[in-house]
Amino acid sequence: MALVVSAVKREDFKSCAQSGFCTRNRAYADLASETPDWESPFRLDPASLQLEDGILTGDLMHTPTTSSSSAESSGALNDGYTLEIHLLDNDAVRVRMSERDPKRRRYDGLHKTVLVKPLISSSQYDHLARDENGLFTINYGSQRQNSARIRFAPFQIEFLVDGVSTLVLNEGGLLKIEAAQARNDVADTRTRALLERRLEQGMWSERFKDIVDTKPRGPESFGLDITFPEIEDVYGIPEHASSLSLKTTRGPGAQYTEPYRLYNLDVFEYEIDSPMALYGSIPFMLGHSKDKTVGVFWMNAAETWIDIEKIKSTSGSNRKTTRTHWYSEAGVLDLFVFLGPTHRDILKQYSSLVGATALPQSFAIGYHQCRWNYISQKDVTEVDAGFEKHEIPYDVLWLDIEHTDGKRYFTWHPEQFPDPIDMQLHLASKGRKMVTIIDPHIKMDKEYHVSIEATDKSLFVMNSLLSPFDGWCWPGSSQWVDFENPRAKDWWASQFSYDRYIGSTNTLFTWNDMNEPSVFTGPEITLPKDAMHHNRVEHRSIHNIYGAMFHAATAQGLTTRNETLQRPFVLSRAFFAGSQRYGAIWTGDNKASWEHFAVATPMLLTIGLAGLPFSGADVGGFFGDPEPELLTRWYQAGAFYPFFRAHAHLDSKRREPWLFGEPYTSQIRAAIRTRYSLLPLWYTLFQEASTEGVPIIRPMFFEFPSDELTYRMDDQFMVGDALLVKPVTTAGATHSEVYFAGNEKWFDFYDGQVKRGPGVQSVPSPAYKIPVYQRAGTIIPKREKPRRSSKEMENDPFTLVIAVDSNGEASGRLYLDDGESFEYTRGDYILREFKVQGRVLTSRSLNRQESETEWSFIRRFSSLKVERIVFQGLSGPVSRVVIGDRPTAVESGHDVAGGQYVVVVSKANLPIGQDWSVTLL
Ligand code: NOJ
Repeated sequence: MALVVSAVKREDFKSCAQSGFCTRNRAYADLASETPDWESPFRLDPASLQLEDGILTGDLMHTPTTSSSSAESSGALNDGYTLEIHLLDNDAVRVRMSERDPKRRRYDGLHKTVLVKPLISSSQYDHLARDENGLFTINYGSQRQNSARIRFAPFQIEFLVDGVSTLVLNEGGLLKIEAAQARNDVADTRTRALLERRLEQGMWSERFKDIVDTKPRGPESFGLDITFPEIEDVYGIPEHASSLSLKTTRGPGAQYTEPYRLYNLDVFEYEIDSPMALYGSIPFMLGHSKDKTVGVFWMNAAETWIDIEKIKSTSGSNRKTTRTHWYSEAGVLDLFVFLGPTHRDILKQYSSLVGATALPQSFAIGYHQCRWNYISQKDVTEVDAGFEKHEIPYDVLWLDIEHTDGKRYFTWHPEQFPDPIDMQLHLASKGRKMVTIIDPHIKMDKEYHVSIEATDKSLFVMNSLLSPFDGWCWPGSSQWVDFENPRAKDWWASQFSYDRYIGSTNTLFTWNDMNEPSVFTGPEITLPKDAMHHNRVEHRSIHNIYGAMFHAATAQGLTTRNETLQRPFVLSRAFFAGSQRYGAIWTGDNKASWEHFAVATPMLLTIGLAGLPFSGADVGGFFGDPEPELLTRWYQAGAFYPFFRAHAHLDSKRREPWLFGEPYTSQIRAAIRTRYSLLPLWYTLFQEASTEGVPIIRPMFFEFPSDELTYRMDDQFMVGDALLVKPVTTAGATHSEVYFAGNEKWFDFYDGQVKRGPGVQSVPSPAYKIPVYQRAGTIIPKREKPRRSSKEMENDPFTLVIAVDSNGEASGRLYLDDGESFEYTRGDYILREFKVQGRVLTSRSLNRQESETEWSFIRRFSSLKVERIVFQGLSGPVSRVVIGDRPTAVESGHDVAGGQYVVVVSKANLPIGQDWSVTLL
């Protein structure tokens, strides 16, 4: 790499030792581990328990034990707490704990933004009153297979599936709630010395660098340990540039010294292999072992840290237990437990609460060309012409901040972009779209209409003194829209109407950047925690969801700008649980290095596991100049990211796909064309993700949940259940080690060569391709004719690539709709299931409404043809193929290595919208 760029400025961001509540919660955990026979001081009053309509309530009391009292003397306490356990209709359980009579009300409004619908209590439960062991048990679920077993003293909740312990709350006794209180209370009742000690601990004021967080509400953090018994691998809690299976942060031999941090931050050229916070936060964790899987969602948007420790299992099993310790600075302790029983069930349960991914417009899963910046209309035309000349498909051209008039969003640079509508129409004539960047900081400018309106309507975030907050960002002095205010959300959305966003058309979409939010002059480069939002909500309580609220408001704007609703496309850098409802995210400012390239895989897999499948990393690396080999390898892997975009920093050299010459241009062209040929598969996977909450690219363990060798594997992945992809992340590689899971065959995506699992094999990875294999038992829909853009492929016929398993069976799906509107939600789509059984391939509809109505899409497209069908892995020769009742000669059939027969039917011409069968004789 030619350009050496500086590394992350660690000192810009807090370590745990610089965060008062992190230090205090960790110190509490230290005390617990150093104290023999440590007991949680929390007790549940048996007499207070009430179970009604699926909700159990009770009084929690804090009665310091000798072991806990010394650690708590410096923490504000409150004697009475309430416990609520809600049994929900989707088999999830919600657990809440808070002060019964708080001196200051905690922020408790997150559910309004995060949860998609009001929660419904389950009626499928029964309970056993206190038994001889002093335990109160609720059995729930349709077969009463799940249990929540509550211990009164010390207080603990254990979740079991079929009697097997799966998740335990407060087993380690680390529950700690700093009672929200007024400062005067303390001054009245405690000594001056004690107060000063508190100041030191950052309870009432905390300085970081030169900025003081005034903490007018005092300490209000809380923490709890969550134990995963006999589960060694836990996943999730993005975003970190780290491994898929989370590393230990406590205990002997801990892999990290700092806890994992969730606090949305603009981290310039981030560190690899680190638990440092990045741009997004999803407090969702999945624990998985051979025998059990469990999920937990910690619904809190304040700064949160999570420690992870592997401890001996109390059952005496060889398998370790993972103990996690979560602590948040503000808000309420509000968590959800999902018992599956499978990992797929867990994601379905979780996404039924926070929403599954929105189905994007079909162009959004094509290739996106971006850089900071395409500087003029002429530049745009030339780049577009470059794609034409080199016959490389792409769907979207992106404009970064320089396209605006002085970083005033919703405007165009008057000299460089004099006719933006013409520019968009030119791209649209080839089925292409454009994206412009719109950030949440608004230039302070008395002549800028967005600034004037937001000021007039009082829609900006306030500082701690309740006057409008101003800080520094790209435009210089700026203000931040307060998306906590519902009026601000609607007002923001209205800015996208064509008469307000002058120069926009219905082929213009949006990129939301800097929405952690990034404030160059703020503490840790973000908004101060004591900044104020609508209804006196402190920024501290909602920091991690600010970016998602902005993302949501933008998506609303793009949806409603048309009379006929059109699906939005918005890319965001910051994210939170539920962001999948608004669009895609990317992993921010990575670097043109092999290490940054490699870490993109576990990062994207983790984000997908946490319910946000539409994600990508800047192909080529944002900072620096990739050597051609790195760029090519990145394109080859990026073609298998759900969101596929190349992007580059302002100071980097131009690197459009043809600029390095041959052989690179051809290799990059091939990678992008591979993506386009697989768009039918990608779109089908997005549809599955949008209904089931499952990831689109999946860790190996997701598809092979009982294969323990896959649990920490994060350098290869599956696309859906069918394709195995191994990015080549080292320079000069000619071979790659690929793990072939299961006892089945794997077919080379390019030439059909067969590998058999299980085990690692070294396979060729020449410069022009990376290892991609199709799993036996699957059917992949493709479109093989190269075109300019996805739009230009919409009338093209399909190819089905079938890889039968050792029983001669395979299955797969194809989902199709108009790719733009919301008509699919009413039933206007085609969803086919293909199956091979006993040498017969059948196609049947999975859309129950299909035949009943006259849908315009179905009418228009159901006569599209499946043109080619490739059968691989057949155990014997084929002499004839019968399509329906029409016998057809076999066009080709040959024996590949290992006695596998291949048959290609090149003119099947079967209508996609009808049931049919193909028989091999
Ligand atoms: C930071 C973003 O991460 C990057 O992608 C973008 O190019 C710059 N901001 C400029 O807008």
